[in-house]
Amino acid sequence: MKSIYLGNTTMDATLSFVMANMAQCQPNHIALDPFCGTGGILLACAEYGSYVVGSEFDWRLLTAKAKPTKANTKNLARKPDEMMYKNFSDYGTLNRFLGVVGADFAYPPWRPAFSFDAIISDPPYGIRESSQHKSRRQGDATDTEPEKYDLTNIYVDLINFANIYLRIGGRLVFFMPTHIMTYDESLLPTHPCFKLFSNDEQQLNHTTSRRLITMIKVRESTGDEKATVNEKLFNNFRDLYFTPNTKIWEQLNSENDTSNSSVVSKKRNHDE
Ligand SMILES: C[S@@+](CC[C@H](N)C(=O)[O-])C[C@H]1O[C@@H](n2cnc3c(N)ncnc32)[C@H](O)[C@@H]1O
Repeated sequence: MKSIYLGNTTMDATLSFVMANMAQCQPNHIALDPFCGTGGILLACAEYGSYVVGSEFDWRLLTAKAKPTKANTKNLARKPDEMMYKNFSDYGTLNRFLGVVGADFAYPPWRPAFSFDAIISDPPYGIRESSQHKSRRQGDATDTEPEKYDLTNIYVDLINFANIYLRIGGRLVFFMPTHIMTYDESLLPTHPCFKLFSNDEQQLNHTTSRRLITMIKVRESTGDEKATVNEKLFNNFRDLYFTPNTKIWEQLNSENDTSNSSVVSKKRNHDE
C-alpha cells in the first residue's frame, strides 16, 4: 500500500526505514522528528513499534493545505482526510502516532524534563529557499529582516537539543548535506556527550552528497557542553547544488589542461 499524504519533501520509504533502523526504534520507545514535514520518517518509526511525535513549522504541511505532489495530481485539491494521521491509520499504526506540534525548531516547545529514546530527522538543506529564517517572535520588530537560520546553526541546535532531550544510550539520526570535493571527516559535528556511531554517504549529484549520521548519547552533560559544527562543512552548499554539472566539468577540464589535475587528484590534494 502507498502512503496517501505526501509532499515534495517526503522522505523516501526505504531511507525512512534505514533511519528508523539506525535509531533502533522499537516498541514502547518514543521517537521525535523535529522537522517532520509530511511525517515520512515517523511512519517508519511507528512501523517498528515506537510511539512517534513530530514538530514542523510549515502550517500548510500540518494542515495538509500544501498541494499534492503525486504525478497528475498537482491541480487537484486534497481529499478532506488526506492528512498525516491518515497514513498512520492506513498502515494500522495510528495508536502510535502521538501527534505533531506546530513549532519552529529554533524555539523548541518541550519541557526540559521530557526525554526521547530517539531523535530522527532530515532538516532542511536550504535548497528550496535561498536563505532560511527563524520565525518572528512576539515583540520582534516587523520592519526588519527575520533572523537567518543557516545550516551550521540548524545542526548546532539539533545536537544541543538532543543533548537535552535524548536519554543516555538514545540515538540521534540525521541527514546532513555535504559538498563532495570539500568534505573531510575531521569537519563532522561533535559533542562531548555523544559518540559517532556511523556516517554513510548518499551521492545527490556530481558535486553534492548527503550523509546519514548516527550519534549515540553516552553521558549526561556536566556543564555548559555544546556541539561543534565546522561551517566549512556546508561551504556554499546551495550554490554548488545548483551549479550545472556541465559547468563544473568544464571548469575542471580547464584546470586539467593547465595543471593536469583531475577530480580525484584535486580531492586527494584537499585531503593532504
Ligand atoms: C527536508 S524536509 C523533511 C521532510 C520530512 N522528512 C518528510 O517526510 O516530509 C525539512 C522540513 O523542515 C521544515 N522546517 C524548515 N525549517 C524549520 C524550522 N525552523 N522549524 C521546524 N521545521 C522546519 C520544512 O518545512 C520541511 O518540512
